[in-house]
Amino acid sequence: MIVEPRIESYIASLGAQPDPVLAAMEALAERRHFPIVGRQTGSLLSLFAKAVGARRVLELGSGYGYSALWFARALPEDGMVICTDHSSDNRDLALGYFRTAGLEKRVEFHVGNALAIARDQKPGFDVIFNDIDKEDYAASVPLAVSLLRSGGLFITDNTLWKGKVVEADTSDALVESVRAFNKLVFSRPDLETVLLPVRDGITVCRKK
Ligand SMILES: C[S@@+](CC[C@H](N)C(=O)[O-])C[C@H]1O[C@@H](n2cnc3c(N)ncnc32)[C@H](O)[C@@H]1O
Repeated sequence: MIVEPRIESYIASLGAQPDPVLAAMEALAERRHFPIVGRQTGSLLSLFAKAVGARRVLELGSGYGYSALWFARALPEDGMVICTDHSSDNRDLALGYFRTAGLEKRVEFHVGNALAIARDQKPGFDVIFNDIDKEDYAASVPLAVSLLRSGGLFITDNTLWKGKVVEADTSDALVESVRAFNKLVFSRPDLETVLLPVRDGITVCRKK
């Protein structure tokens, strides 16, 4: 994406482990041109979840569960990833992969609008991962803050949007949405925020 391909390949070669479930999900992404986070970001999400001792994770935009599987593996036995997606086909695929991985008890999958589903959740999440349509990024911020525990992480993908955030042409509405999101989270005094130039950009906010 925005990092030099040779550097991406080098990083990938360091962490490459055979993993049949992830490999099957990655092959499906390849066939369908479906945007999963990939291993580099997946392992980062897992590390963040472990670092904050996460038990409850909420995902906004789960697709067929690839990023959710990384979270589920990072949680303790009684942990839970709550997934959301518009598509019931994605839910069915995700539940199948979770069953194959032996982690079906660690996932709950809701079909519908991620923000509407999130509004019905009990607060106190340790991590919220945001990967929905970029137009809704700004609206996700106050909601995520209200649902996180103090010290919890709000992690958002694609926040450098293929590097387009630095291009002069501002006519692209998606670029504007991503810029507005970054500006918003960096301006909030109740969040401590960093933007990591990993893959397509990941913004990580810690709720104070
Ligand atoms: C980038 S993909 C998610 C990939 C997933 N996080 C992964 O890495 O495995 C985004 C998914 O979110 C869904 N989506 C986008 N906006 C949504 C919304 N507002 N509510 C529910 N689902 C949404 C899309 O249908 C798509 O399946």
